[in-house]
Amino acid sequence: MKVMIVPTPEIGARIVADRIEGLVRYKPNSVLGLATGSSPISLYKELVERSYSINWAKVTTINLDNYCGLADDHPQSYRAEMNANLFDHILIHKDCQTFVPNGMGDEEDIEAECCNYMSRIIERGGIDLQILGIGTNAHIAFNEPGSAFDSRTRRVELDEATREVNKRFFGGDITKVPTHALTMGIGTIMEAREIYLLAWGEGKAEAVAKSVEGPVTTQVPASVLQLHQNAAFVVDDAAVLALKFKDRYARVLDF
Ligand code: F6R
Repeated sequence: MKVMIVPTPEIGARIVADRIEGLVRYKPNSVLGLATGSSPISLYKELVERSYSINWAKVTTINLDNYCGLADDHPQSYRAEMNANLFDHILIHKDCQTFVPNGMGDEEDIEAECCNYMSRIIERGGIDLQILGIGTNAHIAFNEPGSAFDSRTRRVELDEATREVNKRFFGGDITKVPTHALTMGIGTIMEAREIYLLAWGEGKAEAVAKSVEGPVTTQVPASVLQLHQNAAFVVDDAAVLALKFKDRYARVLDF
């Protein structure tokens, strides 16, 4: 795993967008694992700006997670978020090329959805490049502390801390934040051939430091990335404030 310190999220976004553009040129039917939330916004803006230099025709996108109980047309559902930030602005068929877990339905529906979700990834040969954000508790996707490193797509209960942080997307009202979500597991994420975790701002500094310099433990889910051969934390100066050995990592001044 490597760490790349960049001055701004926009510069980090350019670096990762370049990699995506190169990958899709080399492998037009690439499978991209995508994240939601605020961290990938600058990346999606950059990808939208490059919409004519990336050929999306054969690409598949697989999102990490979604809330349970929010229909696709709910503005806070991750389907709606992905459409608004990326899919509505690029030449991609949402119905057959983009996948966001569907957290609606009863226990049986959810179980079937989790199974189908995993099959989709396997049928397409696995994820080529995975984008991640990181929670303030170091979760990746919605794998909260304590999640097994070999976990797969499943329904999980969200930590109170995660709901508290995410209430900003629900008008500041925690009672509106769903209590459960569907998430890709850590085992699946670790099988991606290349991973970029994006973290911006001081609010992520503790989680980044524990994940990069602390022991690998299920209590710090993102620490598992230390074991990945081709994972990079792309972080800004504020997000590395708590790292002890900042000088050891690559610093990109401009791109
Ligand atoms: C969302 C996801 C989450 C977020 C994390 C950080 O798809 O996988 O793990 O990446 O909660 O959220 P932001 O980017 O809003 O700080």
